Amino acid sequence: MTEYETILVDQRGRVGWITLNRPQALNALNSRVAEEVTAAAVAFDADAGIGAIVVTGSEKAFAAGADIKEMEGMTSADMIGTDHFGAWRDFAAVRTPVIAAVSGYALGGGCELAMMCDIILAGDNAVFGQPEINLGVIPGMGGTQRLIRAVGYYKAAELVLSGRLVKAEEAERIGLVSRVVPASDLLAETTKLADTIASKSLPSVYAAKATLDAAMETPLTEGLEVERAQFAALFDTADQKEGMAAFREKREPDFVHR
Ligand code: CAA
Repeated sequence: MTEYETILVDQRGRVGWITLNRPQALNALNSRVAEEVTAAAVAFDADAGIGAIVVTGSEKAFAAGADIKEMEGMTSADMIGTDHFGAWRDFAAVRTPVIAAVSGYALGGGCELAMMCDIILAGDNAVFGQPEINLGVIPGMGGTQRLIRAVGYYKAAELVLSGRLVKAEEAERIGLVSRVVPASDLLAETTKLADTIASKSLPSVYAAKATLDAAMETPLTEGLEVERAQFAALFDTADQKEGMAAFREKREPDFVHR
């Protein structure tokens, strides 16, 4: 497996795990982290033996944001010229479902990284927010756009404009988090969920994610067309025949992921 400097990567069954590993900086997301997380996710995405990806951090911090020390001296031209957060586009585009397992701080770019994932599981010690306004900037890794889609305009506007942080319970209530679990159970619950998703037929999982993603981008009629086409396409897979035969024969399906 590739050697990484800022992340730990391992495969557990059919699940690819990416653990942010810059404890001295509370997993602040510098350019190296962006490149490595994206490279690891893209490699897992190309592997038919992987049915789900998990991104997690430490107990204290999922990620405390983009690396402020790396950005401090940059000019506008540097930001644009280097496409500073550009690597994350490829991360957000993977076909495989990604679960963010969030313990501790998910601030700024950390919150935005979690929102690039499909499911956010949070420990009850998690803290989310977009505090960029306190630094004289605004969210730059998708925060304004994805937060509105998650929680609606008025909640998003309050959080982005004030920089107020929200604890796990409020994050779940406003729809930013899929589920909150006791912090001590976070990794076990994440493993259970990731294994469940990875046990499903891969073509149907890809189709489900692509169709859910389309809902973020399209008007209803167009989104329903995407769903219709994706649904129909699955009827050429071996797993659709197996899944429906297994139902009729009252047994568990044995998916071959084709
Ligand atoms: N960038 C760079 N370094 C960071 C960092 C960040 N986002 N967050 C924390 N660190 C570093 C600290 O500088 C400190 O390093 P030193 O020991 O060398 O000083 C180390 O991590 C530990 O942090 P603290 O001592 O501050 O830890 P704490 O427990 O007292 O506070 C915290 C924790 C409240 C999360 C605090 O670290 C903090 O406020 N961090 C910044 C949060 C933030 O503003 N995030 C947004 C960043 S901008 C952004 O993300 C732009 C975007 O949209 C993409």
